[in-house]
Amino acid sequence: MPAKRPSIHPDLDSILVTEAQIKRRIKSLAKELKEQYGDKEFTVISIINGAILFTADLLREIENPTRLDCIRISSYRNETKSIGTPQLVHSLTLDITNRDVLLIDDILDTGKTLALVTGMIRKLKPKSLKVCVLLDKKGRREVAFEADFVGFIIPDRFVVGYGLDFAERYRNLPCIGVLKQHLQKLAD
Ligand code: IMP
Ligand code: MG
Repeated sequence: MPAKRPSIHPDLDSILVTEAQIKRRIKSLAKELKEQYGDKEFTVISIINGAILFTADLLREIENPTRLDCIRISSYRNETKSIGTPQLVHSLTLDITNRDVLLIDDILDTGKTLALVTGMIRKLKPKSLKVCVLLDKKGRREVAFEADFVGFIIPDRFVVGYGLDFAERYRNLPCIGVLKQHLQKLAD
């Protein structure tokens, strides 16, 4: 029987990362985290909404004791490009002073969001702070920022799925794909 090819959502131009590739990479990222933390407890801070699916799947591969908190950032975007300074919309509820903190986001693009959030977290005096992102668009950096753990380096294309959205849609797709060009426009 011929191998079953993943069916492609009609709004996608192409699939950049398949569901199977995501699953495999998450297992290997969990091993990298094990090398970092051993059996120690750490506190996960997930930047919602984008990192929801990635955080949920990664956490299930981790056996360490973990604490989980979420923060919400609004990044002002003009259709598919970030145009302003990101703002904190919902802050932490856990105390992270003297804790090992792992910050998780969906994608590292211009670097503005993670530069802002790591600056804010450092002021709360964690014992350590590491950053894990599923995707890294290396070519788009506007502020110098590198993540400690990166799932996939991708080219400068606007992607959706597996937590990433366009106008809050497509977060539920199990893979990461490039949205068709004519759909990269906001409705009035
Ligand atoms: P940065 O502040 O420019 O690094 O942008 C980070 C945020 O922009 C991410 O957390 C995403 O919410 C959003 N973003 C950047 N690139 C994409 C993309 O290709 N698709 C969907 N959202 C994106
Ligand atoms: Mg985001």
